[in-house]
Amino acid sequence: MLTTILRAVLARSLKPFVFESTDHSPALDLDVPHLGAYVHIPFCETLCPFCPYYKVAYGDGSAMPAYLDALEREIARVLGRSVTPLSSVYFGGGTPALAGEGIGRIIRAIKFHAEIAGEIGLELHPRDVAEDFTTMLLDAGVTMVSLGVQSFQPHSLAALGRPTDPSISVAALGMLGTAGFSAVDVDLIFGIPGQSDDDLRRDFARAVELGATQVSTYPFIDFSYASNRIKPVSERRKQGLMSVLLKSAEENGFTRGSVWTFRRRGTPSYSSITRDDFVGFGASATTLLRDQFKVNTFDVDGYISAVGNGRLPTAYTLRFSPRARRAYWLFWSCYNMDIGRDRFSAFFGAELDEEFGGSLALAKALGIMAPTADGYTLTGRGAYWFHVIEQLYTHQYIDKTWRVAMSATPPRRIMLW
Ligand SMILES: C[S@@+](CC[C@H](N)C(=O)[O-])C[C@H]1O[C@@H](n2cnc3c(N)ncnc32)[C@H](O)[C@@H]1O
Ligand code: SF4
Repeated sequence: MLTTILRAVLARSLKPFVFESTDHSPALDLDVPHLGAYVHIPFCETLCPFCPYYKVAYGDGSAMPAYLDALEREIARVLGRSVTPLSSVYFGGGTPALAGEGIGRIIRAIKFHAEIAGEIGLELHPRDVAEDFTTMLLDAGVTMVSLGVQSFQPHSLAALGRPTDPSISVAALGMLGTAGFSAVDVDLIFGIPGQSDDDLRRDFARAVELGATQVSTYPFIDFSYASNRIKPVSERRKQGLMSVLLKSAEENGFTRGSVWTFRRRGTPSYSSITRDDFVGFGASATTLLRDQFKVNTFDVDGYISAVGNGRLPTAYTLRFSPRARRAYWLFWSCYNMDIGRDRFSAFFGAELDEEFGGSLALAKALGIMAPTADGYTLTGRGAYWFHVIEQLYTHQYIDKTWRVAMSATPPRRIMLW
């Protein structure tokens, strides 16, 4: 309901967002400022029950070579002779480390077509981290890493159904913290049943003590198609845990980088898809451009065969109206707590205050937003409300899109109300 009202007010439309399946392969207009890139590696050794991302069991690894070949082809096809430099490249999954030397190969393939002007980030499962692997990543050009710790408490990991020994995370983070990456992010989940204030406070402090430059704290979300045996705690309890996180950040000298991330001052932010525009490669990868949001097929074999046949592996495309695209920009800028006038005018060639003056004034009057030198930021109250809205958005939009796209017979159209 809340997300529907927001969409209607900001996008000035009561029409739903519609994802249409596409069987044509138009060229993508990559001429946008600060284009980022995302590469999805959809294989995992074990599948965690809480995880919503598109991934398949790695098994004997026999699908990886063909998958890497397909990635190279898709990159060549999409970037072509691109002169647009990429502002960042992120590898996510799944478990990108399973690609091994393939990571370097994909980075070289991207560099063949486009300059990488910024950071290269990669997600890691704690059990992936070994000294020689870390060296290989640095040699390949990876500059930032994100470690999926979730919790250092055995009982929370067991509740999540990911009973990894926390000492593996401790050793992994110790290694990453001293390896020479410009940012080391640690993912924690809060709102797991049985997790106490003290558990969360200790997890935050432990991550910082072991060398994390950023701590990402995600509220536990029960996706409709996940196989959780437990349910997240109430929103009221999450609110209490959020206060613990704010206090922990302060005690550890970290500042809030977005609604769900905190980082050491002066270190770069690790944030894969919260960008104004990005191009995604691989099964289930998304692409966000000026006029469209597209999602690749959620099927490894389908992905490989589409790319092999010279087609883009797009499953669905949402065509934005100009107003809806601006509203989408505003939504993610709120998540990043940085609603910048210059960024808005560079991207849209229009003035932020002219487009959203009424909504911004109301947000200011309600104490949700505060002015900055170049626009607006969310206040503490605003960040709390955005945390609530972002969870609703995840349930109402992301959960539905991914569930439908992953189904055995995906429909031609997905309507998001
Ligand atoms: C692709 S996963 C992590 C990368 C790596 N494969 C791993 O498992 O360590 C990205 C992050 O999303 C977060 N996440 C996954 N499922 C979640 C859920 N149901 N609720 C909240 N956060 C979740 C976790 O913190 C996770 O580390
Ligand atoms: S949480 Fe990570 S390791 Fe677990 S299934 Fe998801 S992507 Fe794979």
